[in-house]
Amino acid sequence: MATLRLGDTAPDFKAETSMGTLNFYDYLGDGWGILFSHPADFTPVCTTELGTAAKFKDEFARRNVKMIALSVDGVESHHAWIRDINETQHTSVNFPIIADEDRQVSDLYDMIHPNANDTQTVRSVFIIGPDRKVKLILTYPASTGRNFHELLRVIDSLQLTAYRKVATPANWEHGQDVVVSPSVPTEEARKLFEKGVKEIKPYLRLTPDPTV
Ligand code: BEZ
Repeated sequence: MATLRLGDTAPDFKAETSMGTLNFYDYLGDGWGILFSHPADFTPVCTTELGTAAKFKDEFARRNVKMIALSVDGVESHHAWIRDINETQHTSVNFPIIADEDRQVSDLYDMIHPNANDTQTVRSVFIIGPDRKVKLILTYPASTGRNFHELLRVIDSLQLTAYRKVATPANWEHGQDVVVSPSVPTEEARKLFEKGVKEIKPYLRLTPDPTV
């Protein structure tokens, strides 16, 4: 499998998970998806990540994003680990964790980076749009837990910029000013964005977040 890149179609798969066998596309339905991998069960950073992910489930659901995690251990191991996660992180893991013992999905999504570790997955994140295209790829090492606030922030940006002719500047958060897409001339932008356009430079135009 060639390395996945932005804009590629996310490969479909059938997999055993902590919530039974599922087909990825069926699970996603017609909404957005986030697939994230964990190096192994019963590891400390992953335990905190999955606990955090569970607490964020409503926020992902509000954005129409289905969550699915992956670890290369088996279903029974996942169930025992989930009990630990629920206990230690004071939550209830409420989304499937793929039991990728045969590395089928890990290979499909290039989640094993042999020069980092030849058996465990790195911390990959794939955000997939309703059109099944890969919208974002992040890769973190095993030693660094991911920031789930950032994942929500980037989903807000992806969903905004998918439907409006805008882009989001550095450190942008929902509700803050956005950048007018470079492809839109300023005069056209003034008609398009009724809240106004501030031209700082001909190539740098700001407008209030059109969704608030
Ligand atoms: C962890 O999840 O804590 C972890 C996993 C593999 C290597 C280092 C840390």
